[in-house]
Amino acid sequence: MFFGVDYYPEHWVWPYGGSAEEPEARWKRDVELMVEAGVNVVRMGEFAWGLYEPEEGKFNFDWMRRAMDLFRSAGIKVVLGTPTAAPPVWLARKHPEILPIDERGLAKHEGTRRAYCMNSDVYWEYTRHIVTALAKALGNHPSLVAWQIDNGLGGHFTEASFNEETRRDWVQWLRAKYETVERLNDLMGTRFWAQTVTRFEDVPMPKAAPTVHNPALVIDWMRFCSDTIVAYARMQADLLHELTPAIPVTQNLRALTRKFDHFDMAEVLDFVSVDSNATIQEKPSQLACELDMMRSLKKAGVRTPDGESGFWVIEQKANNVDWQEVNSLVRPGVVRMFTHQLVSRGATGVLYFLWRQPRIGSEKFYGGVLTHDGKARNRIYQEIKQVGQELQALAPLLKDTRVAAETCILLSHDNDWNLSGVKQPNKYFNQREHVQLFYNAFHDRNIPVDFARPTEDLSRYKIVVAPSLQLLAGGEADLLKLYVQNGGTLVGTFNTGLVDEHHMAPDSGFPHDLTDLFGLEVLEFDPLPPGQENHITSKGQFSATHLHPAKVWCDIIEPRTCQILATYAKDFYAGRPVMTMNHFAAGRAIYIGTMSHQFFYNDLVVWLRQLCGINPLLKVPDQVEVSMRQKDGTKVFFLINHQNSPVRIPFLKPMHDALTGRTLSGNHDLPPHGVLVLSEQTPA
Ligand code: GAL
Repeated sequence: MFFGVDYYPEHWVWPYGGSAEEPEARWKRDVELMVEAGVNVVRMGEFAWGLYEPEEGKFNFDWMRRAMDLFRSAGIKVVLGTPTAAPPVWLARKHPEILPIDERGLAKHEGTRRAYCMNSDVYWEYTRHIVTALAKALGNHPSLVAWQIDNGLGGHFTEASFNEETRRDWVQWLRAKYETVERLNDLMGTRFWAQTVTRFEDVPMPKAAPTVHNPALVIDWMRFCSDTIVAYARMQADLLHELTPAIPVTQNLRALTRKFDHFDMAEVLDFVSVDSNATIQEKPSQLACELDMMRSLKKAGVRTPDGESGFWVIEQKANNVDWQEVNSLVRPGVVRMFTHQLVSRGATGVLYFLWRQPRIGSEKFYGGVLTHDGKARNRIYQEIKQVGQELQALAPLLKDTRVAAETCILLSHDNDWNLSGVKQPNKYFNQREHVQLFYNAFHDRNIPVDFARPTEDLSRYKIVVAPSLQLLAGGEADLLKLYVQNGGTLVGTFNTGLVDEHHMAPDSGFPHDLTDLFGLEVLEFDPLPPGQENHITSKGQFSATHLHPAKVWCDIIEPRTCQILATYAKDFYAGRPVMTMNHFAAGRAIYIGTMSHQFFYNDLVVWLRQLCGINPLLKVPDQVEVSMRQKDGTKVFFLINHQNSPVRIPFLKPMHDALTGRTLSGNHDLPPHGVLVLSEQTPA
């Protein structure tokens, strides 16, 4: 189990730390305090290019080597960032063409981080240079356990740039995809507004224009930008693999907030790392959902520094963030609670951002493990010390355990990009909210969930939920059918299959290519404005605990071979089906033609659980989050009380408390923000 911090030794050199005689003296104190807190890994250097190479070709890695040597003497391992997230000022001054151009044709200037275009040959060349120099200088340091590529790729809305080199690569990308201009015109539908082209070079980049661009072109553009980012990361990963084959490569991703295909990115990496912004304001199930999404990005071929199969949280915020309108402190016990939540969902490395609040720069009021004074008398340092001890104690039990799920929710980046397009049937529809309604219902019933792209092998799952795949490729539709044919249970919804991968609407009815699977056709759909509702009247085997509303969107369904599970209560489609089930070969395809409130999804999950024989991990009061890591013969349960008040948990059979060594039976009061880690040996 790796436990550590993000450390910026360059912030703590005289005159900001240390002394005139011994400019780096503070580093020693930091190492001592880290050891005391149980830290065994630090991440460093992801913005250090301008210090490694203060002038072109004049390298200085000695200061970092001295810092690494210090860590080595304390047995602390090191992850080094390649420093390409922050190009040095001299590079932008010498080659202003590396600066990214925005959709209005304006350059984003130097002086911060991320000011570079990922299609720039010059930037690729300088990247190779600095990464090679770094790997040669520090790649054989005995403390080095992993590389982090760049930092926050795509962050600060830098996923796309509109430079001339971008245009060159765009044209090449289109040529590779379509082969002929005729094919491009046909599949992209450029006849609309007569925007046909005769040369690939004339296909526009979607720059600022009087009105919306062709959505087929925009989707291709986003695929191209994603491929660009992934190619840039791959170039660095390949180089590092070649120079230091034994050192795994990672990158700090964010839970799908950036516009590139995270599954594609995960293929480039040896293991996935995540930035987590957990603060007390967020709902526990939202955080859990983000972690499950990130855990699911790389399901095979994981290579971490210690051979574990999980992911890392390489930036867990140690206290407040600095980008909210009000950056409240994280309450006592909450950082500990969030850390156990990360571990419970499969993290095998947790590093806090950042070690100490910097006295310089734009992030000086971000919460840190230490405050500006560096004295370690502060509350968070004490709390993290406790967490460090707890994780050390849990490490042997957790070794080789992993999270397993029988339920899966589908995620498709193509579809998400499509849904972010301007012209939507209902701009109040929010896919993330839709996914979250399903996720919450599973989460709150203690049923683990994986995420997957529609093209993955889904056969291991008993239930697959496919919320609003508005853009559905023909191949994806075929795979969904195959999954059901072989005995799976698929839950599909409204706003599915309105267009194919070329953004072409079907002429064979909605949902495109799936009318036979669901045994119905959607004849029309009625998007509803906020505040307007229909109602769901259940019939047959699906029984509801409430009168559930139908909101946002109502599909008007013509049933064919499906059974009707619920109908609309009013309007001109009163009595028409809103929820159906169709038997398809060995499986079932359930269709939900509307969006409802949380209680509907809770009822749905209770019913699905019985239908598919899925058991909750443990039965505990609703307010308690439960997750489990397991390996042959061992189950480790994490029970987390996210509330500010205690919760009483009745144990029907004795359980072993792995944090205290006690046996728990009868009633146990879990304090506010309390955590229990329980282990159970199962007979082989
Ligand atoms: C992360 C980034 C860190 C820091 C943090 C603040 O994405 O990697 O360097 O800036 O955000 O939110």
